[in-house]
Amino acid sequence: MQIEIKGKASGRSLFIHYEERDLEENLLIFLTKKGVTIASSCGGEGVCKKCDIQNGWLTCKLTLKEFFQRQPDKKIIVGYL
Ligand code: FES
Repeated sequence: MQIEIKGKASGRSLFIHYEERDLEENLLIFLTKKGVTIASSCGGEGVCKKCDIQNGWLTCKLTLKEFFQRQPDKKIIVGYL
């Protein structure tokens, strides 16, 4: 199973794989582990709002499963890639 990460400015896409066990993981932590840089300065407290992706969703406040419920095509749009 995979997620598409798309850069808003570059239009570039990157595909990363996930497993069933990753669904309950925090999206910000998951992306960071996979080498996708997401801005963050509050350590996932939901304060800085720098970790937002499309629709203003905060990656630090979503699990993969919650993100997929909101975005069934599993595409994450980031500011730069
Ligand atoms: S990391 Fe600061 S709001 Fe998500």
